Amino acid sequence: MTEDRTPAVSDNPEGLAAEEEDQPIKGRKNGLYGEVSDELAASMKSGWADTELRGLQPVAQAPYAAERRAKLSARFPGERLVVPAGRLRVRANDTDYPFRAASEYVHLTGDQTEDAVLVAEPAGDSGHDFVLYLLPRSDRENGEFWLDGQGELWVGRRHSLEEAQALLGLPARDVRKAAEELAAVEGVPTRIVRGYDAGLEEALAGVLDEERDDELKVFLSGLRLVKDEWEVGELRAACDATVKGFTDVVRELGQAVATSERWIEGTFWRRARVEGNDVGYGSICAAGPHATTLHWVRNDGEVRPGELLLLDAGVETHTLYTADVTRTLPINGRFNELQRKIYRAVYDAQEAGIAAVKPGGRFRDFHDAAQRVLAERLLEWGLLDPSVYDVEKVLELGLQRRWTLHGTGHMLGLDVHDCAHARREEYVDAELVPGMVLTVEPGLYFQLDDLTVPEEYRGIGVRIEDDILVTAEGNENLSAGLPRTADDVESWMAGLAG
Ligand code: GLY
Ligand code: MN
Repeated sequence: MTEDRTPAVSDNPEGLAAEEEDQPIKGRKNGLYGEVSDELAASMKSGWADTELRGLQPVAQAPYAAERRAKLSARFPGERLVVPAGRLRVRANDTDYPFRAASEYVHLTGDQTEDAVLVAEPAGDSGHDFVLYLLPRSDRENGEFWLDGQGELWVGRRHSLEEAQALLGLPARDVRKAAEELAAVEGVPTRIVRGYDAGLEEALAGVLDEERDDELKVFLSGLRLVKDEWEVGELRAACDATVKGFTDVVRELGQAVATSERWIEGTFWRRARVEGNDVGYGSICAAGPHATTLHWVRNDGEVRPGELLLLDAGVETHTLYTADVTRTLPINGRFNELQRKIYRAVYDAQEAGIAAVKPGGRFRDFHDAAQRVLAERLLEWGLLDPSVYDVEKVLELGLQRRWTLHGTGHMLGLDVHDCAHARREEYVDAELVPGMVLTVEPGLYFQLDDLTVPEEYRGIGVRIEDDILVTAEGNENLSAGLPRTADDVESWMAGLAG
């Protein structure tokens, strides 16, 4: 088991030649520039200042991450646990896709470094010793610094292992030795979080078992169900930045009308990149009938006054917690009568849903409450025949779902659909407890080709989505910075009109 974790020289910028680690620089081809002279190689080795950062304090989430690791340790005594951050993925030749560390790894470490691995080694009665395997700073002696694709000259300065240790409160070791060091200790039951590091999975294949690995993934997903105070703060910040992003979009609606939905996507994304790490999921910028496509992320359509814009977008913070907010906005600033009627139904459904979010309530309650309101409206409007069905029958048969389409919400956190692998008994079939954060997002969608509804309904889609924290008293809407009623939406838009 000697998986080579040497930075992938084949990923070298400018096609720098792949070489063995111990081969001297001399003779290496430097892409466009040809041979490296002895003099240049010698020059690149020296003359660099000592930039080691000393006296670093732990990052804010370090003590919280330590608590999470303690829970992990208690659940799997005597077992070795391997939690990779994930590897860079090649887009083409020497360019990679943007890296986003695995949520399990981030949750347990507070770190986001590519190619890293957290390992919990069983340590007798005292639980586990946790070790963080990271790529250290680039060696200047062997040329890695400037000739390797992951050399710091190309990708930027990394933390030294000592710096990482101080910041994260975990002993740090060279990740290139991870597979070898794991292999050196035999006979320890081992689990890995699969799907992030094929090389490590292969290196450990002999001691891994898929079912046992799944149990680890499920546990780590469930571990994120209740957010600690620091995480709630991050989600609050994600919502605040998202409010700003929506405000930017409304300010720039004129540009979107002149161009396309892409202007909206770009406008929101600029805010996400400035205030946070990125968007937490592909923004849904759905104008007109595109609003009836649940995950419309092509965002290449026209933005027409008189129609609605369904904008579903969330800023992901620098620490990778995301908001998930939807507003449906009249592109010309005013809802027409039918748009307002449909919007009002969705708003009332959301109100009923939010009211059902409280400790001791069941996760399913807010979905049921919202669906009931929507079913009642569909009957009232005659889209479902009230001479044939009453609301109980509609709900029993699920007939409203032709137009409500999706569940009314999900957990939110490091992933937009957070805790997706948690056990049913602790998530969808469970009671809500303070510290959970979830979305409440009912919608009504009338497809363009739906012959069962009057023509004027066709092509209208409305969703309203907020991020709700379960508190000891009930709940708090973290995205309340954006207006929700039709009247408030109109006044807000009017106030932002240039
Ligand atoms: N915001 C997208 C979703 O919840 O699926
Ligand atoms: Mn959502």
